[in-house]
Amino acid sequence: MQRDQLVFDIIQKELQRQRHGIELIASENFTSLQVMQAMGNVMTNKYAEGYPGRRYYGGCEFVDETEQLAIDRIKQVFHCEYANVQPHSGAQANAAVLLAVLKPGDKILGLDLSMGGHLTHGSPVNFSGKLYQPFFYGVHKDTGLVNYEQLEEVARKEKPKLIICGASAYSRDWDYTRIRKVADEVGAFVMADIAHPAGLIAKGLLASPFEHCHFVTSTTHKTLRGPRGGIILMGKDFENPFGVKDPKGNTRMMSHLMDMAVFPGIQGGPLEHVIASKAIAFGEILSDEFTSYARQVQSNAQAMAKALVAKEYNIISGGTDNHLMLIDLRNKNITGKKAQETLDKAHITLNKNAVPYDDKSPFVTSGIRIGVPAITTRGMKESHMQTVVDLIDKVLMNIDDAQMVSTVSKEVHEFMLQFPLYPELS
Ligand SMILES: Cc1ncc(COP(=O)(O)O)c(C=O)c1O
Repeated sequence: MQRDQLVFDIIQKELQRQRHGIELIASENFTSLQVMQAMGNVMTNKYAEGYPGRRYYGGCEFVDETEQLAIDRIKQVFHCEYANVQPHSGAQANAAVLLAVLKPGDKILGLDLSMGGHLTHGSPVNFSGKLYQPFFYGVHKDTGLVNYEQLEEVARKEKPKLIICGASAYSRDWDYTRIRKVADEVGAFVMADIAHPAGLIAKGLLASPFEHCHFVTSTTHKTLRGPRGGIILMGKDFENPFGVKDPKGNTRMMSHLMDMAVFPGIQGGPLEHVIASKAIAFGEILSDEFTSYARQVQSNAQAMAKALVAKEYNIISGGTDNHLMLIDLRNKNITGKKAQETLDKAHITLNKNAVPYDDKSPFVTSGIRIGVPAITTRGMKESHMQTVVDLIDKVLMNIDDAQMVSTVSKEVHEFMLQFPLYPELS
């Protein structure tokens, strides 16, 4: 077969784009070379429906080994009893939990998408809002902090079967104890979606949800710095409360229902090449090097927030506990859309984002979301955050000056030369 140079050339251009730019998309990161290369392996050829030791196909002895390693390592990372490493993405992980514990039409309660929540937490355009009956809580208008009183009020009124916490655009830690308390009162399960801050939770830098939440889901490609994918975890396995029994009449454990929800519930064959890469990434998370990385992420985010506040950028909740922050640009008279598009021209990538109580459409928005996991992987420290903020500010304060934007893009290239990305790749 002839090498498809057309596609490889496009991939090469993407590598150059990643090398030259300042990557501030909060949900992105740069994997290690071994994590990335492991995804391009022969395990992509293998069908392995089922789980290690109990597959529907022959020849699974080696994919069993890598999948078991991935499971064992991520359990060690989070000190938890159960892990399923097969979800193809974060959305799939959430779909599996909902399938495992809910019936169509059951009530769920999650953080409103427009306040920082995720589509899979009950949005009407997502399966979670179509198959189940969604209710929402928000954040306080004045502080930007989760409105736990509202969460409790809606939970007591609607008695949802599942309360979902976790977010895509929330810069503060969560009170899992408080959420579990009201969940117990109304007979709900709690699911924490830690897709964003998982890497910081892994290193004890944020509160752990495992003691309080029945189910924990995550992506593996954000702060965990693994390949694109999802995981489902349980701090403690427990007998399923739905009365599902095995052929001997013993009550099945929840872990069994969860495995069944992933396969055959929502997925077919697992991506064993990606699972091999997950195993490597989870091994990296166990290292001291990753501990330093996670600490640096948190320090960089705080330094970035401080530098932005000094230039009178309005950060929702006034700062950050984790790796990201949400900025309301209304006092600068710039929309999120315009900011994103213009910064993109200067090779500073981030995303427009609705701010709580936004008066603009989700296609325009009043805000931007900034995250530091990727630039921290590039090697940036606290002192570099000032430079990044200066570059952002130069673009935003000269938003209609194409010449200035072009000058900044050159400064960005120059600045990024200090932080080599995949130097092993030509
Ligand atoms: C909180 C949260 N959950 C789930 C997801 C979905 O992950 P994926 O894009 O891998 O499906 C995201 C993605 O941004 C997220 O922020």
